[in-house]
Amino acid sequence: MAESYYPVQFSPLIIGTMRLGKWGAQMTTEQLAAFVEGCLELGITSFDHADIYGDYTTETDFGKVLEAHPDWRSKMQIITKCGICRVCENRPDHRIKSYDSSPEHIEASVNNSLEQLATNYIDCLLIHRPDFLMNPIEIEKAVQKLLEQGKIRSFGVSNFTTHQFDNLHKSVPLHTNQIEVSLLCRTAFEDGTLDQCMEYGLRPMAWSPMGGGKLFAEDIDAQIQRIRKAAAPMLVKYECELDQLLLAWLLRHPARILPVLGTSKLERVQSAVQALEIQLDRVDWYDLWQAATGETIA
Ligand SMILES: NC(=O)c1ccc[n+]([C@@H]2O[C@H](COP(=O)([O-])OP(=O)(O)OC[C@H]3O[C@@H](n4cnc5c(N)ncnc54)[C@H](OP(=O)(O)O)[C@@H]3O)[C@@H](O)[C@H]2O)c1
Repeated sequence: MAESYYPVQFSPLIIGTMRLGKWGAQMTTEQLAAFVEGCLELGITSFDHADIYGDYTTETDFGKVLEAHPDWRSKMQIITKCGICRVCENRPDHRIKSYDSSPEHIEASVNNSLEQLATNYIDCLLIHRPDFLMNPIEIEKAVQKLLEQGKIRSFGVSNFTTHQFDNLHKSVPLHTNQIEVSLLCRTAFEDGTLDQCMEYGLRPMAWSPMGGGKLFAEDIDAQIQRIRKAAAPMLVKYECELDQLLLAWLLRHPARILPVLGTSKLERVQSAVQALEIQLDRVDWYDLWQAATGETIA
């Protein structure tokens, strides 16, 4: 099997930071430090950021934790993203939402993320969303420079179609494609995205593995009712909770998916770690697939 160009490796589950700060739990530095420490103790060492999270504030929250605990940096991997220009108070110059993967923007965004995160390197930089105006030759030059400077240790993309991925991968090696994958978002199983990762020996990262929390909501639609009904006997069979079953369903795929967890609760990270041990039967996998689609397999 092919292998990634980059030696950087991630923990089998990745902690998403999107909901830890202003866009969610609004953790204090002390609360965030306790959460990060708990994750590290569980062996979950990879943290997924983006410049825009918390309207450009969550990297700073995390940086404060690293400033207080500089010895943690070498024990973790930091992923961050660039390329979305978000309209918010912190960026008054952004007239409308747009994408920018120009070399100038990539370089400026990385320098800013390094400062906010209080670190001198990023383990994996991702282009957050495909920029229709991206120029692979220019991106290659910017990425090469950042790699040579030691500011980034690997490079990848997020939300790229297979064609967009191939087009960029020809100019600059990509380490991953971070995409939405869950029982509620199954496109990557069918459109070749996961197959492409396997072909290149790359591990995809799955964002919103719990459907952004929709699978646990009180007010649920027919699809989620079907999923919960199909899951009920499996929770008994595998002696697990619904969140663990949902992760086991992703982990069963041979693409070696790396789920990016969105929880802000340490006990749920702990529970997710236990899900790594569940070996889901093939038929149970399809049972959940059918519940999600509402159709029998062809
Ligand atoms: N590349 C991209 O374009 C992109 C887009 C979106 C997200 N992401 C990344 O992916 C990460 C995860 O996304 P996500 O937050 O949507 O993931 P998610 O894990 O699908 O959803 C997280 C939400 O579900 C809730 N939840 C999780 N387990 C639960 C349980 N057992 N019972 C009840 N509620 C539960 C969490 O609440 P609690 O905090 O209370 O547990 C949280 O509100 C983000 O942090 C970010 O790093 C990337």
